[in-house]
Order: sequence, then structure tokens, then C-alpha cells
Amino acid sequence: MMKNLTKEPSGKSRFSRTLVTAALPYANGPIHLGHLAGAYLPADIYVRYLRLKGEDVIFICGSDEHGVAVTITAEKEGLTPQQIVDRYHVMNKESFEKFGMSFDNYSRTTLPVHHQTGQEFFLELYKQNVLIEKSEKQLYCEKDRMFLADRYVEGICPVCGNTEARGDQCERCGTWLEQTQLIDPKCKLCGTTPVVKETKHWYFPLGKFQIELEQYVDSKKWKENVRAYIDSWLKEGLEDRAITRDLHWGIPVPLQGYENKVIYVWFEAVLGYISSTKELSQKRGDQNLWKKYWQDEGTRYIAFIGKDNIVFHTLIFPAILMSWNKGGKSRYILPDAVPANEFLNFEGRKFSKSRGWGIDLKDFIDVFPPDTLRYALALNLPESRDSDFYWKDFQARVNNELADTLGNFVNRTLQFVQRYYDGKVPMAGTPGDLDRWALDQMKDAPAKVGALFDEFRFRDGVVEAMSLARAANKYFNDSEPWKTRKENPGLCSTSINICVQLTRSLAILLSPVIPNAAEEIWKMLKLDGTAAGAGWNTAESFGLEAGREIGELKILFNKIEDSTIEEQIKNTASGEEPAAKTDVPSVVPIKPIISIDDFRKIDLRVAKVVSCEKVPKSEKLLRIEVQIGGEIRQVVAGISKHYKPEELVGANVIVVANLAPAKLMGLESNGMLLAASSEDGTLSLLTTRSDIGSGSFVR
Ligand code: 2FM
Ligand code: ZN
Repeated sequence: MMKNLTKEPSGKSRFSRTLVTAALPYANGPIHLGHLAGAYLPADIYVRYLRLKGEDVIFICGSDEHGVAVTITAEKEGLTPQQIVDRYHVMNKESFEKFGMSFDNYSRTTLPVHHQTGQEFFLELYKQNVLIEKSEKQLYCEKDRMFLADRYVEGICPVCGNTEARGDQCERCGTWLEQTQLIDPKCKLCGTTPVVKETKHWYFPLGKFQIELEQYVDSKKWKENVRAYIDSWLKEGLEDRAITRDLHWGIPVPLQGYENKVIYVWFEAVLGYISSTKELSQKRGDQNLWKKYWQDEGTRYIAFIGKDNIVFHTLIFPAILMSWNKGGKSRYILPDAVPANEFLNFEGRKFSKSRGWGIDLKDFIDVFPPDTLRYALALNLPESRDSDFYWKDFQARVNNELADTLGNFVNRTLQFVQRYYDGKVPMAGTPGDLDRWALDQMKDAPAKVGALFDEFRFRDGVVEAMSLARAANKYFNDSEPWKTRKENPGLCSTSINICVQLTRSLAILLSPVIPNAAEEIWKMLKLDGTAAGAGWNTAESFGLEAGREIGELKILFNKIEDSTIEEQIKNTASGEEPAAKTDVPSVVPIKPIISIDDFRKIDLRVAKVVSCEKVPKSEKLLRIEVQIGGEIRQVVAGISKHYKPEELVGANVIVVANLAPAKLMGLESNGMLLAASSEDGTLSLLTTRSDIGSGSFVR
């Protein structure tokens, strides 16, 4: 029935091809280092390694563009969900490319091919009578007049006590929740406590798959951290889960009576891997390609994700596929491994955009070469427990390891060839003990590194590859070619020849992690083709014949100055210590809660300053004429210590337009300008971009 009921040591596979997917990131914000360390970098190292071994592999990803993650961002920014996903899809695709992610396809879940796939799966399960329709109690916000799907509600996680657990999932402990399980739930939009109301939804009977899932889980090899999560869910017992939502953004539920509902994002996002592969099929003009990778027993499927996605990939996605397979139309393969990583923290704390803690990929690679980040992250992957990115550690890795160990070895070797052998690889004579030691290191390296990569131990694999660079440096030092050149030229040319061979091997073995530097080395060696295409096992042995000319030398890695790192620390990791949620507030106490209706009574408008002057005999007041749409009004504001009249003319400010008129020094003020002011007396008027017309609403 089910394939691979026997455990196979990964790597020595009987499969003819590999499908690799990396979690589809939500297109609601930029990719940061935590995402890279969780799923993307390990996936890319793995795929590059398989390609180097000459294996048949495809690498699939794309933007997850549905769900409440997107609609909440859109609401916050006053844009449509489509505008949000368009912005972040392009941004993330670009930064991934610059970082060197070698996806075969990077798709989007808003594409028709994905909507069709999502609806096709939903309908198939519906027709098989697998899905169950239930009228259930859900949280409803009476102020916002909506059911609070997923992230629209926050509360305390019943499992781990996290106070920011969401309606569908607790990010901290990874529990998949039903919103009614949340303790003290609050509407994310208005902060009030929602009521419980009936609504109809379709449910996926996960509980019915318990035994099949247990068998499936037992038939595969899992990383320890992943297995621990799976076991705790299986032990707790699996339950039915709603797979539709009361939302307008997503894949419409293809059933009558469900016009205002969409398919739950997690039901369809995992299917995004399939539709992204279908898109690749179309692009390559090979209609059967996707079936070969998804429906052929000879394919091995590896899904790279971060820990918060484990339940969806190890239980829910397999159950959806098992369910489809029962229909008999066609059979999908199930994930063979889900090498999920834990979280990466940043300078000792969680990444937090709002607190200015952390750095996005986009900003990072504007300043530092992508290979430096790939290398430093690879050595710090949270493979078995959470890890931390520290700027100083990054600097040390780049300076001591990439520049001083690898860069220095390559440089001194090739410089020696240029200077003393006329730029041509010298002859190797009979190796002595020291030479044999170096050759043994080279011979063993591909198998050692490969065995670690095969087990998804990328951190150790990269350490192992780098230890060949250390050995190579030691060999150079111990052979003392600067002495033997004069005293024993035969010895010298042998050791330099071996150093050149080691340089080539290093380029191959390090190519999965630092692909750009590997190709630079390849060019310096003036080799044909690419390091990425050289063949993994060819790194064991000689690849350059004597007499062959090498190319021009280049510095592989520049050292990073202390001042550059200080600057980064200042910009990305010097925010305030976040106050504990239940602790004393970090600002003057917040005023009592008001309702959204109370807030809506205030009519805030964009106003253009048309004239401005100091009020005679007043230290503080400015008399300002503003235009609100077609109307000109006089406003008097106490801001003359902070703004000169001429600075304000032409600015777009925000006015409370329905405030009762007041008299200040005999002048009537018809409205109030909004300004931010801090305890130390700093004041800043709120302004808008100039392309927003005066009279526009602010809400
Ligand atoms: O956690 C996330 O960013 C999700 N968008 C991951 C989805 S993975 C898969 F289901 F597509
Ligand atoms: Zn929790």
C-alpha cells in the first residue's frame, strides 16, 4: 500500500530523482535572516550538493499570498491585499536571487494554476465524502462585525502560555489551535473580547487518519527535534479541523452557499508546491514533468521548513495527499523527510521589526557579499535547538575563516604559481609523507562532507569542508615552499602542485555554501565549466594537469572593519529591551480603552498649509491657514518653538477637522494639528506624502 515502509539511511537511496521544496514564505513582509536559517539556506545547500553529485533534482518554492497574514498587513498599511503581495513577491524573489537561492521555480499562490489546484483537491475530498460540514461556534467581533479568522484573534496559548498565540496556531510552541481554545481571546483589530457565534464550515477529519499517519511517521527517518513535535501531537490525538474561513481573500470555496468563504490558507498553501511544479512544467514545455516529480514512486520528496510549520508538513499535508490517493484518480508521493530547523534569534532576542531588532536580507546584501552571510549562517544553523546571530561572530567568521583561512590559502598558492612558475601549474613528483597526508585529507573530504549533508547536518558539513582549508594552510606552512624553492625545487613544485589541486577541491566542496566564491576560484584556476558542475567526487583527486596556465588573481574576501560592524549593531540591535507583556508599560500609562466607534467620531483630514505666520506677542503660537479640500480654514497651533513659518508652507499636515472651535489670544482656531511629542519636549507634526490630496480621510 504505502511505499517505503522500511527506513532507509538517507543519501544511499534507491530513488531516481529528488523533489525539494522550501516553505512558501508569506508575501506580507521582507525575508529576514531567521527565515534563511530556518529553511532556505539549508535547502539551497542541499540542492546544490545533489546537483554537484549529478542527481536529478528540482527545487520548488514561491510566495504564499493568501491568508490573514496578508490581509492584516494590508489593513495596517491601508492597501489592498493584492498590492501587498505584489510588493513583497517581487521584493522577496529578488532578494532570494541575490542571496543565491537556486530555485527551479518561484511561484505565487494567487496564480490561476494554484487556485485550480486548491479547488480541485477540495472538490475531490468533498466528492469522496471525506469533508464534514459543521455548524460550529466561532469567535465573532461585534464591533468589527466579522468572524475572527486565524490572526484576527490573539490570546493565551492553552499549551505553553504564550500571550500572543493566534487563532489558528501558537508560533511559540507550534501547536495548531482552534480559536475557541484560546484563553482570554481579543480581537486583533479593536482589542475587545469577541463573542461566540455559529457559522458553517467544512472540516477535514484529521482524526480519521491517526493510524495511517502513525504508520507513515514510523516508516520515515526524522530529525530528533521534528520527531518530538510529531509524537506530542500524535499522543494528544488528532482532531477534525476547519478548512474554510469567513474571509474574502483566498481561494473561493467551490460550493454553493459558500460564496463568502475561502479555503483555509494552510490547506491550500502546501498544495502550492504542486502548483509551482505545474508552473515549471508549463515553463519548460513538458506537461509530464510535475507528475514525474509528484506521482512517481521513484521520486524522493524532501520538504525544508522552519519549526512553526512542522505539523502542516508532517501530518496535515500527508493526510491530504493520502486522502486524495484513496480516490484512485492518481497517487501522490508523501514527504520522505522534513528537516525542519528551530528558530534563529538575533543578538540574544527574537527578531522584531517593530522594535527595530534584526535585519532583512535585502538590507544585509546591500552591504555584505551574499557568500559571507551564507557562510556565517551555515555555521550557525538552528538544526537541533534555537541559535543566535551575532554581528561580532559574523565579523570573526568572515575575517578569520573566509579571509584568513580560505582566502589566504588560495591567494598564497596562486601567487606562488604566478611568481615562481610563470603562472603555470608545476609538476608533482613522488609524494613524501607530508604530501601523502595532504592528499589523504583531500581524498577523504567529499565522502565526509557528503555524509553529513546527506543527514541534513549542514553545519557540521560546512565545518568539515572548511577543515580541509585549514589542513591545506597547514600543509602550505609545513612544506615551506619559500625555502624548498631554492634548496629542493622538486619538493617545492610537488607541494605547490598539491596546493593547486587542493584549491580546486575546496572550490567544489564549498560551492554549495559559498557558490560565488567557488566560481571565482574556478576562474582564477582558469578551469573549464563551473565549480558547480564539476562533480562532487572529482574533489577527491587531481583535476589540473601540470603545465596548465592559471588565470588572474583576485581577493576572494575582504575583511570587515570594526567600524562597519559597530554601525550595523547601532542600526539593527540597539533598540529598547522589550517590556514583558504583563509588566509595567514602557511609556506613560495608556488611557482607558475606547471603542472603534468612539474613535470614528473624530474626523481626521489631510490639510495643505497655504500660509503661516507667528502670532504677534506670542512665544508659542503660529497662525496657520490650511486648505481642506475646497475649504480654507484658520488654525492656531502652539508649535512656533519647533517650526519656522516658512518651513510649513506647502506641507501636508493632519487636522482634527470636527473639533469645536476655540479662541487663542483672540484668534479663532478651527481644528487642531496632530503632532507627536515626547517627554523631553521634542515635537514633530504628522505629515503625509505630497501626492495625497488635501481633504483626504485619515483613519
Ligand atoms: O510560515 C509561513 O511563512 C507560511 N507561509 C509557510 C507555508 S509553507 C507551505 F505550506 F506552503
Ligand atoms: Zn503555545
